[in-house]
Amino acid sequence: MTFRNWWKSALLTMLAVCLVPIWATQVFSQTLAATPPMGWNSWNHFHRTIDDKIVRTQADAMVSSGMRDAGYIYVNIDDTWEGERDAQGNIQTNSKFPDMKALADYVHSKGLKLGIYSSPGAKTCAGYEGSLGHEEQDATTYAAWGIDYLKYDLCGLRTQLKAAPTPEAAHKMMVDAYIKMRDALRKTGRPIVYSLCQYGNDAVWRWGTDVGGNLWHTTGDITDKYDRMAEIGFSQAGLARFAGPGHWNDPDMLEVGNGGMNPEEYRQHMSLWAILAAPLLAGNDLTTMSPETVALLTNREVIAIDRDSLGKQGDRVTAEGPLEIWAKPLSDGSKAVGVFNRHTTALSIPVDFKQLGFKGSVQVRDIWQARDLGTMKDSYTVTVPPHGVVLLRVK
Ligand code: GLA
Repeated sequence: MTFRNWWKSALLTMLAVCLVPIWATQVFSQTLAATPPMGWNSWNHFHRTIDDKIVRTQADAMVSSGMRDAGYIYVNIDDTWEGERDAQGNIQTNSKFPDMKALADYVHSKGLKLGIYSSPGAKTCAGYEGSLGHEEQDATTYAAWGIDYLKYDLCGLRTQLKAAPTPEAAHKMMVDAYIKMRDALRKTGRPIVYSLCQYGNDAVWRWGTDVGGNLWHTTGDITDKYDRMAEIGFSQAGLARFAGPGHWNDPDMLEVGNGGMNPEEYRQHMSLWAILAAPLLAGNDLTTMSPETVALLTNREVIAIDRDSLGKQGDRVTAEGPLEIWAKPLSDGSKAVGVFNRHTTALSIPVDFKQLGFKGSVQVRDIWQARDLGTMKDSYTVTVPPHGVVLLRVK
């Protein structure tokens, strides 16, 4: 090699060594959860009964129901998969999950991704083994198994936080615990979506991105009851500016199809989560879904609102007693407008286009009815069923 060529190749190598990591970090941060994660989580329906067989049948159903093709990709195992640690401190699965690597291979073979759950504490919420003191080891194990998503649930660490001398010390302890797992996950080199679960404490939306969160629970747990769903969903007002590509507010998993709400209430649930650009993690049994549940979960236009490439969360525009109007800006200049009725009888309300930021005439489409309503001016009065929604796309 001539001296000139040697210099050329040395320079190229140096450039590659410097630039590739920067490029890789950018690609990672841009592509991981660029839109709100979609998939399924075991907790809402199966709680502690989740096992390998159920995960496989849910993955199968995710494909056969059309959910995968609608965008639902993550199959997330929640709490109660954990076994004891071996002599070297490596986390083992319990007898419900005989071979996590084989399960991940199965899920991947379906074009899906596998998620898992742990806690920064010594124990998880359900009293299983947590990751405290084993963060790097656990992250390495997850990566070796082929895990693509981690929900990291504060739970067990709360005892330590309570013993902290000041609230500031407790906050720092919690933040450090989340950073520790973030670093451990990054060190594996595997892109693993990082979901923070600490029930919205200490305004997590303000620091969730800094600790590497791709999403964070903003509230306590949802239940399959209208009042709880509405309490959580409508409490998200004001949080929009904290969400964006790679980092999302998460008002908890969906209850659609679990049986505790009527179809109108589930429609409201789904519409509100879409306006919130919320992660869409189904929480029902996918093997026994009614056609109505499949239709609610897989409506392409509703999903397109949730995952719109602008990546802007929607917010409340007005509230008049139990009637609330929320809007979400979309990449084509239109807005998704949700007119929500939290009351137990049908109510009518005018939707004022000027108030929504539009001038002159607008094109209006009713999303759930899949019907263009034509050109309108000034306002449009909608009648919303009890606990229901009218979801519009206005341009
Ligand atoms: C907490 C979480 C739930 C679920 C359970 C599991 O309550 O908030 O989402 O993960 O723990 O034990």
